[in-house]
Amino acid sequence: MKRKILDILKNTDGYISGEQLSSELGVSRTAVWKNINSLRKDGYVIDSVTNKGYRMVSCPDKLDGNVIRESLDTKVAGTEICILDVVDSTNEEIKRRAANNAQSGLIVAAEKQTCGKGRLGRSWSSESGGLYFSLLLRPELPPSDISGITLAAGYAVCLAVREYTGIDARIKWPNDVIVGNKKICGILTEMTAQTDRVDHVAIGIGINVNHEAFPEDINKKASSLYIESGKRIDRNKFLRCVIQKLDKVLSSFLVSLSADDMSQFRELCATIGKRVSVKRNNCTINAAARDITPAGELIIVDDNGKEFIINSGEVTVQGIY
Ligand code: BTN
Repeated sequence: MKRKILDILKNTDGYISGEQLSSELGVSRTAVWKNINSLRKDGYVIDSVTNKGYRMVSCPDKLDGNVIRESLDTKVAGTEICILDVVDSTNEEIKRRAANNAQSGLIVAAEKQTCGKGRLGRSWSSESGGLYFSLLLRPELPPSDISGITLAAGYAVCLAVREYTGIDARIKWPNDVIVGNKKICGILTEMTAQTDRVDHVAIGIGINVNHEAFPEDINKKASSLYIESGKRIDRNKFLRCVIQKLDKVLSSFLVSLSADDMSQFRELCATIGKRVSVKRNNCTINAAARDITPAGELIIVDDNGKEFIINSGEVTVQGIY
């Protein structure tokens, strides 16, 4: 009932009378009134005027699986969507559910993570206003191909940010999305595999969405979609857009990225053409980033003209945080 009233209010421009709501839903006006009050308690601001009825003024900034699922038609990402208030880490939750036979395509998102994880054993702070979610995939790929999945996911987030906000987001190889020289998204992919076969991967994505500011220590390195666009982002609609892009990019990646995707990927990759330092086997290679291979590895050329193909490791790009 509450859900139905919510849908009607959201899809009505202006006021709708209590009488119309009660006849459309086949319930008493008192029942309508009670549900409206309950929605108000959930954070919805609903105006009511005698002889006019009710009008939705604003919705709370809360993740809502029903809104995210609206007109979402995906096959690879978001076949099931689960929203949690609090979890240790959405990647850990995906791993637990994968061990209990959860299906490929499941997405778990949380308002808050108590132990959010970043790459290289770092922690990932999960302030309110961000999007923190993980996707479970069971790809039929050898473990060596999995690093490309992170890259494909970063590309998908980059496309969603560009489409939804118009911001000039780019990819910092291998797994950050940046705006200017600041990070707005990080991706942590964790895999459970045998020597030759992947059981499952948890692709964990953290996006700085409506953050108004960052602590001083990361202020120069981090930004949010709100800071960059000056506009509050509807996290439900934006997450839906990200899931759509993930679905599109990953379904082709699991076969192989199309030539079009590859050339757009190159165009959006801020690392290509820059000076980079790459930590590899306890030494640092200073080089120029030349290109990306079709498998998503970074091709770099050092000052002696020697070419290296890099598929993981810590890369520092000159001029980007
Ligand atoms: C990084 O840039 O270091 C990667 C950050 C990944 C953060 C996301 S938030 C959702 C998911 N759950 C986690 O614990 N980490 C990832």
